[in-house]
Amino acid sequence: MQDPVFVKDAFAKVARRYVITNHVLSLGTDILWRRKVARMVAETKPQRLLDLATGTGDLALEISRACPGLNITGADFSAPMLDYARGRKVPGLTLVEADAMALPFASESYDCLTVAFGLRNMARWGDAVWEMARVTRKGGSLLVLDFSLPTALALRPAYRFYLHRVLPRVAGFITRQQDAYSYLAGSIEKFPSGEEMCDLIRANGFSTARAVPVSMGIATIYHAVK
Ligand SMILES: C[S@@+](CC[C@H](N)C(=O)[O-])C[C@H]1O[C@@H](n2cnc3c(N)ncnc32)[C@H](O)[C@@H]1O
Repeated sequence: MQDPVFVKDAFAKVARRYVITNHVLSLGTDILWRRKVARMVAETKPQRLLDLATGTGDLALEISRACPGLNITGADFSAPMLDYARGRKVPGLTLVEADAMALPFASESYDCLTVAFGLRNMARWGDAVWEMARVTRKGGSLLVLDFSLPTALALRPAYRFYLHRVLPRVAGFITRQQDAYSYLAGSIEKFPSGEEMCDLIRANGFSTARAVPVSMGIATIYHAVK
């Protein structure tokens, strides 16, 4: 559960350097995670796709490469993040400024909905998933990509050291916004993952959900069907 005023302000401040900071912090692995989601999307053969919390359009870009000709709507409540996405001229992508908690779209209007590193930042996770389910047609897919803690408990202390001590300093140096990245570390700790997240998704409008951990569980892809 996050404060939307803080979140909006944090992304407005880091928008210009968000993409490069991600690639530095993850040593480029974030690109591979989004590519995997894009391949999973392609398998569902969507006609109309909503990329929620699209931000700078990184996932939308990978999806447009994996699914040439697909109509993609990218929605986000941060105008500076959307401005960056607009400059990338992603084929098939239409950008909309909108709050994920109250989407300006008709019920059942998309057959695939994606959200990368976005749900964790939303005010109420269950309500946000419920709103995602509302705009997804019956039988449609939801793919959520987000951070989680390493599956092997032995790796967690080292990962936590990186998350809380190294990451905010490196990102703070690149963006001059260390607070935004201290927030990131805290938000990852609080965010449900694995079966707990699958339960949350199933309790809010989707009938099935499975978790696919990537990079030893540092991130997880959730695939749910309505
Ligand atoms: C970490 S960025 C993710 C951007 C992109 N999906 C990616 O893969 O890099 C999180 C995005 O979620 C957006 N966001 C957070 N809460 C939101 C909400 N309630 N409605 C719409 N967008 C939201 C932020 O503005 C930000 O652009």
